Amino acid sequence: MSEPISIRAMGLPDIDAVVEIAAGLALAPHWGREVFLASLYPEDGPPRVALVAEVAGVVTGFAVASVLAPQSELESIAVQSDAQGRGIGRELLIAIMNAAALPGIEEMVLEVRESNRTALEFYRRAGFLEVGRRRAYYMTPLEDALVMRRPIP
Ligand SMILES: CC(C)(COP(=O)(O)OP(=O)(O)OC[C@H]1O[C@@H](n2cnc3c(N)ncnc32)[C@H](O)[C@@H]1OP(=O)(O)O)[C@@H](O)C(=O)NCCC(=O)NCCS
Repeated sequence: MSEPISIRAMGLPDIDAVVEIAAGLALAPHWGREVFLASLYPEDGPPRVALVAEVAGVVTGFAVASVLAPQSELESIAVQSDAQGRGIGRELLIAIMNAAALPGIEEMVLEVRESNRTALEFYRRAGFLEVGRRRAYYMTPLEDALVMRRPIP
């Protein structure tokens, strides 16, 4: 039987695990500690929600979204490579959409590398639709971003 997945707010003690997960994934944004810390204490930026997924007490994934009415932007979501394909990403995405469903928030938007077929399919399955393209949005390698959105009820 597979271990239950629990989703909770990201806290200071999670930052090392979260940075390590991101560093181990070619397609995750390689934010430094300071960026994740700023997600927890957004003094200078928009308010954010930041969650982690735990399986058997081990942090295996995370998601961060800004929340600035009328939009929430999903800034990052990632699951440790050997824990992928078990529903952890889906649980994280549902939880962060619920956490971002604050008064005045009408939709969640995100950007994704055009070549990241796994993430594109993952988002489509969660009800996101492609609504645009940002040319040369990503560096190393240079690539377009597809913009996706989903209404937040
Ligand atoms: C995208 C990512 C977060 C998905 O997490 P995951 O835990 O593997 O996804 P899940 O197991 O919850 O799958 C959820 C859905 O996505 C689909 N999916 C997941 N991986 C897929 C793949 N490789 N190909 C096609 N569909 C896939 C699943 O079929 C599933 O659909 P269902 O709910 O209809 O069954 C994970 O692959 C990841 O961390 N990738 C690297 C970082 C990244 O690209 N992040 C997004 C851009 S910043």
